[in-house]
Amino acid sequence: MGGGAGGRPVTERDEAVPEVGEHRDDDDRDDLRGEGVPAEKLDERGRRDDAGDGPRRPHAEEADEVGRPGTARAEDERPVRRERAGDDERLREKDRDEVVQRGREQRGEDAEVDERRRARDEQVAHLLEVEQAPDEHESGPRLAELAGQGRGVAGSGGHGTRLVGRAAQDVGSSGVTLDLIPFSRPYRTPDELRYLDEVLTSGHGQGDGPFTQRANALITAITGAPHRLLTPSGTHALELAFWLLDLEPGDEVVVPSFTFTSTAAAVVQVGAVPVFVDVDPRTGNMDPAAFAAAVTPRTRAVCVVHYGGVGVDVDAIAAIAEPNDIRIVEDNAHGLGASWRGRKLGTLGDVAAQSFHATKNVHAGEGGALLTGSDELADRAEVIREKGTDRSRFLRGQVDKYSWVDRGSSFLLSELGAAVLTGQLEHFDEIQRLRHAVWDAYATGLAGWAAGSGWSLMHVPAEAEHPAHVFYVLAPDHAGQTEMLSHLRSRGVQGTFHYVPLDTSAAGRRFGRTPSPCTVTADFSSRLVRLPLWAGLTDAQVDRVLDAVVSFVPASSAQGRA
Ligand SMILES: Cc1ncc(COP(=O)(O)O)c(C=O)c1O
Repeated sequence: MGGGAGGRPVTERDEAVPEVGEHRDDDDRDDLRGEGVPAEKLDERGRRDDAGDGPRRPHAEEADEVGRPGTARAEDERPVRRERAGDDERLREKDRDEVVQRGREQRGEDAEVDERRRARDEQVAHLLEVEQAPDEHESGPRLAELAGQGRGVAGSGGHGTRLVGRAAQDVGSSGVTLDLIPFSRPYRTPDELRYLDEVLTSGHGQGDGPFTQRANALITAITGAPHRLLTPSGTHALELAFWLLDLEPGDEVVVPSFTFTSTAAAVVQVGAVPVFVDVDPRTGNMDPAAFAAAVTPRTRAVCVVHYGGVGVDVDAIAAIAEPNDIRIVEDNAHGLGASWRGRKLGTLGDVAAQSFHATKNVHAGEGGALLTGSDELADRAEVIREKGTDRSRFLRGQVDKYSWVDRGSSFLLSELGAAVLTGQLEHFDEIQRLRHAVWDAYATGLAGWAAGSGWSLMHVPAEAEHPAHVFYVLAPDHAGQTEMLSHLRSRGVQGTFHYVPLDTSAAGRRFGRTPSPCTVTADFSSRLVRLPLWAGLTDAQVDRVLDAVVSFVPASSAQGRA
């Protein structure tokens, strides 16, 4: 940090800070116009464009002045000066040639460049082909096998949904080509493209623009959370949440073993230790008794995950946390708009994380949000996500300049993401209506089958209002899971399992602690099969999924019959 132009402070990015009242536009470029810097010296982001000139070289005349006293120099040194001037000219010419050449290359005017581009295009096409046809690639069989099981690219704790290889078609066991019903498909709203165009036209692509404000208002309307900050992902929101708690090395955060990697990785990211505990066999949510047993003097926080958006028994968790001064973080990646005992998820603890990943009910491609009811935490989060500066306060006119005041990073969602998210959030009710219709059809259509087959359906406690994020069935044993997934695939339905227990993962063992074996997690994870669920599944597709599930015959019975 040092003095900027005109003695004003500069931020870490070497951006001069404007005087208050002069340029209080949300736009950094406008912040910087008015610094007395001529417009042509500002690059496209409004920063001083010194780089183009390079460090200021002394003028040939000045250079000669340095340390050369008296008049004797004048005649003697003229040739040298001319030579130097000649050198300078040659250098400038070389520079100019390079610039011209670069420009031509960039514009693709050169035949040679065209040729290079063609070769590169071919290479890219080839690489894409290899990636999209893994069966022919070295790692193909494994990837193809995983795709066949609906595992896609998921590793430990992965999303477990991406299709690898074949397009959305598959050959059923009957040999008939079926359209594959994908596990998940992001909803499209009629407004997203228009909103994106607005952002690109406005030139305000960075965070905290008008679409961020609209998305914020919608999130508050849906969740009731007084404060919310959009982040580039749910993972970032979790990291921000743990930063806010000022955890120190060796501090412990209790997390369920049955969760996505990010829940625990975010704890590790801030130097603390995730302590893995077991889950309730009916919901996959943290078991409050397991949490109670894991509390030590080092426990600073507990992170509950509302699996599938079905609320954790937060009252039972709070009864243990509060007397021990343990903060409650909600990983509400799945549960936008859902509630527990009539209270909205995301508002039940100190701070919460939402995910707007493409697999979630509403999405921004990648995106997330931090929610909190605490003014104090919100103020601090605003600083941390703005590279540790109080720029947000400055933009609101609460301080007359901004500077570095705390730890920080860049946790803002760009306006492009916020524009898509706004479109999605504006259609939240429609999305939820469509998803609930599918969820209800599964619940009704499979009730009879489950009763007589040894399988059970996803359980939603009476206190929970769920968001139709997932629908799963639980096999009687692990073999049932494996067989059902391949049976569904053979019927053109992409089912998928979910998280691989984190306590047994390589990183979980390395960075975490597991006071008691998470046997329920292992069992739950090994039996769970999720069915396709997205807004826009047609009745015919839902019927096909139902038919596929109820026509499942376990290998043991098939052998018994043979
Ligand atoms: C429970 C849970 N927490 C956190 C995340 C991370 O969210 P994101 O993918 O937006 O980073 C996910 C993602 O699926 C999740 O399922």
